[in-house]
Amino acid sequence: MKKPSVFITRQIHPQAIDQLTQTCQVDVWPEPYPPPHSLLVQKAHQVQGLLTLLTDPVDAEVLAPQNLLVISQMAVGTDNIDLGAASERRLPGGHTPGILTETCADFTMALLLCVARRIVEASNEVSQGKWLPWGPDILTGGELCGSTLGLVGFGRIGQAVARRATGFDMRILYTDHKRNPEIEHKTGAIPCSLDELLSQSDFVSLHVYLSPENRHLLDYPQFKRMKPSAYLINTSRGPIINPAALTWAIQNQRIAGAALDVFDPEPIPADHPLLGTPNVVITPHIASAGKPTRIRMAHMAVENLIAGLKGERLPFCANPDIYNS
Ligand code: DGY
Repeated sequence: MKKPSVFITRQIHPQAIDQLTQTCQVDVWPEPYPPPHSLLVQKAHQVQGLLTLLTDPVDAEVLAPQNLLVISQMAVGTDNIDLGAASERRLPGGHTPGILTETCADFTMALLLCVARRIVEASNEVSQGKWLPWGPDILTGGELCGSTLGLVGFGRIGQAVARRATGFDMRILYTDHKRNPEIEHKTGAIPCSLDELLSQSDFVSLHVYLSPENRHLLDYPQFKRMKPSAYLINTSRGPIINPAALTWAIQNQRIAGAALDVFDPEPIPADHPLLGTPNVVITPHIASAGKPTRIRMAHMAVENLIAGLKGERLPFCANPDIYNS
């Protein structure tokens, strides 16, 4: 019997590709940049399965070909995929939830510490030969112990950050559409409104999915509510923040600093005014980049793909509504 064919939009871990080649004909896009949209559409017409990354715009045109049995994304977020269009034609969409929670929470804490304690700035100064003699005010910054951390979004990653923050003796506030008494009890996290969270927090960390309602959740009015001594951390999605409002807040000292693993757009334009700003730390969307995590993510994406090709329910499905009727 002819093996089903799949297209993978980037080189993923070789073990995961090996697992796929046992049952499929595998075509891998070899470049580090995403394939052009026209090529993705062309491939979608030729294969039964697509394995995508979050940088691939997967719109209704890509999802339309009836030969396509499954789309599997190696990420938890699926905001680049028109899941509505997939569900409409009952095409299962896979993703990789859960597996990256802990490593993303670790990275969030790393950013928090980095921006508050000015680690990148300090390291850059030393590299430039500017190791000044010890001085009372040199490179002083914010402290975690005793400060308030506001978690915007209290899903898996938000909760994992809360667990870590208790170890730093932080007070925790959170916003979410639902209460979670168990983790509230474990971490002392207090639910509140976004306005309350913004005005009381020393650190605001974003952990919400990107949706039309969450786009520019942090805009000029929200920055005006934050403490001038507060730091903003974003490891979720760039468009949750209006970048113009953030730039304004930093340039006018409306907040003390920001640590951003995501930006709108990605990559950040090379001439963006936030680049090179000492109190802004920017990393290139690497919160989940723990090596073992990335390998497990690749395997989960492959498991979803194989299940979809066999016509079985995806183990990690982003649009399970398709199985309801
Ligand atoms: C995701 O999975 O959605 C992260 O942004 C990247 O790992």
